[in-house]
Amino acid sequence: MHMGQETINMTLEDPHGFAGDLLVCFVEEDALTLDSEILGGVNRALPRIKEIGDFNGKKDQTFIYYPTLISDDQEPIPRAKRVLLVGLGKQDDEINDRRERLRMAGGTIARQAEGVKARDLLVVLPREYSLDAAEIAQCLVEGLLLGNYRFHMYKTTLKEEEKAARMENIALHPGGLVEEAVHKGMIAGKIGSEAVCAARDMANRPGNGWTPHDFAEYAKKISKKSGLKYKVLEKSALQKLGMGGILAVNQGSAQPPKLVIVEYRVSKKLPTVLLVGKGLTFDSGGISAKPPAGMESMKYDMSGGAAVLAAMQAIAGSRISGINVVALIPATENMPGPEALKPGDIITQYGGKTVEIINTDAEGRLIMADALGYGIATYQPEAVIDLATLTGAVIVALGHHYTGLLANNDQLAAQLTEAGVQAGEPLWRLPLGPEYRKLLDSRVADLKNTGDKSAGTITAACYLQEFVGDTPWAHLDIAGTAWDFTEKSYIPKGPSGIGVRTLVGLLNNWQPLNLSAAQQ
Ligand code: BES
Ligand code: MN
Ligand code: ZN
Repeated sequence: MHMGQETINMTLEDPHGFAGDLLVCFVEEDALTLDSEILGGVNRALPRIKEIGDFNGKKDQTFIYYPTLISDDQEPIPRAKRVLLVGLGKQDDEINDRRERLRMAGGTIARQAEGVKARDLLVVLPREYSLDAAEIAQCLVEGLLLGNYRFHMYKTTLKEEEKAARMENIALHPGGLVEEAVHKGMIAGKIGSEAVCAARDMANRPGNGWTPHDFAEYAKKISKKSGLKYKVLEKSALQKLGMGGILAVNQGSAQPPKLVIVEYRVSKKLPTVLLVGKGLTFDSGGISAKPPAGMESMKYDMSGGAAVLAAMQAIAGSRISGINVVALIPATENMPGPEALKPGDIITQYGGKTVEIINTDAEGRLIMADALGYGIATYQPEAVIDLATLTGAVIVALGHHYTGLLANNDQLAAQLTEAGVQAGEPLWRLPLGPEYRKLLDSRVADLKNTGDKSAGTITAACYLQEFVGDTPWAHLDIAGTAWDFTEKSYIPKGPSGIGVRTLVGLLNNWQPLNLSAAQQ
């Protein structure tokens, strides 16, 4: 597993007295002093540092100095081994840029700490930063903990040096901000980041180290820990329910399929939001095999399921109110075993629609369609949001930065877009419509599972739309962003854990949908 051993706490100790590895302070661009008087020792050094010209508080600029090497007998100096100054730039930008700035700063601190092998840190929050105190703490903690993430599970000879290069104890000093708010934000940041790191771990694990069974076990573990309802539909139940999509994709695999269900219930009177995540633990393409180059990366085809499950962990951990949330993860491999699904086969999805299989590599939509249809019929949600690494085409269209968003409801799309931009996980909406849907018409069945070469992300979403009826629905195609999302100080190469914080933010601020106004 990732190191995740770090602790994070709030402290009110005098920063001058902190004798640990690294004392961190923030500096606004061109400011002559820190905004916190509690750091007189650093304040006196600042004009001299600026005079030298190496550091003036530009965003992401850093400067490390060693206060105990400077003799200053007159006044107290910090006892910390090192002081790290982190530039915040000017505060002339948009609120979401300021949130992101703090996450980036947190990630930058993690990198600097790694460079000098600092394990014990005290971070003094920036009092004058124009953002709510709880958000300052939350964004910074996200940056710190997500930036501290490494995956070492399979390294048997990890050098001591590498082990030492992680932050272990992080103390946050409110620096004049309201303590309760800082504490609240810190806890929210910690819960969210731990969930993101859990999702990253799942995606980092290979196909033989993270199977449908592992999804079920993890769901059981978090459910026991935080009082979620948990259920797994095994193969026999899937057969009884007629989930022909999950079963068809599973035919070529030796691993039994699962439909993992986790419920966060606040009250029967409240509406339910349904989350569905693609849990394809390895996608070989099946009989329509993928080319060998890069096929190993198809272990991350379960990132939607990981995001949804991790989001449930965070939702239960932070006890959100005002809404019930149910998560469904259809989990299977897509393999070319002797019983595998073949091109030309006709299958029946949950609910009865028949599908002509053109390409067995378009398997995600088959497992998602069953879960969407079943979830909507069973839980009658107010809205449904699905996350899936569904198409390579979304990488062609949007690259590794924006996640593709397709929805049948403008309000839901708008709420999600706002939650995404707040979390630093931007979404870009693509259209749907009958002109695209007709590319899925089949001569022999109700529909076929692929269109032609064009608009692959849209036709995939059109396929899913067939199974959601009038329920407000949004689909996030995370194929480009779940892996190698734009690299940032707090987002390493590899799995990003995208979607977790967007979902948690969305559900925390959930606005009921106005049905009459919003149907597209
Ligand atoms: N899991 C893939 C999509 C994918 C591609 C995810 C690249 C991450 C990176 C999905 O199951 C798939 O194979 N889709 C096909 C659909 C096609 C056959 C219509 C694709 O995108 O090529
Ligand atoms: Mn595929
Ligand atoms: Zn796939």
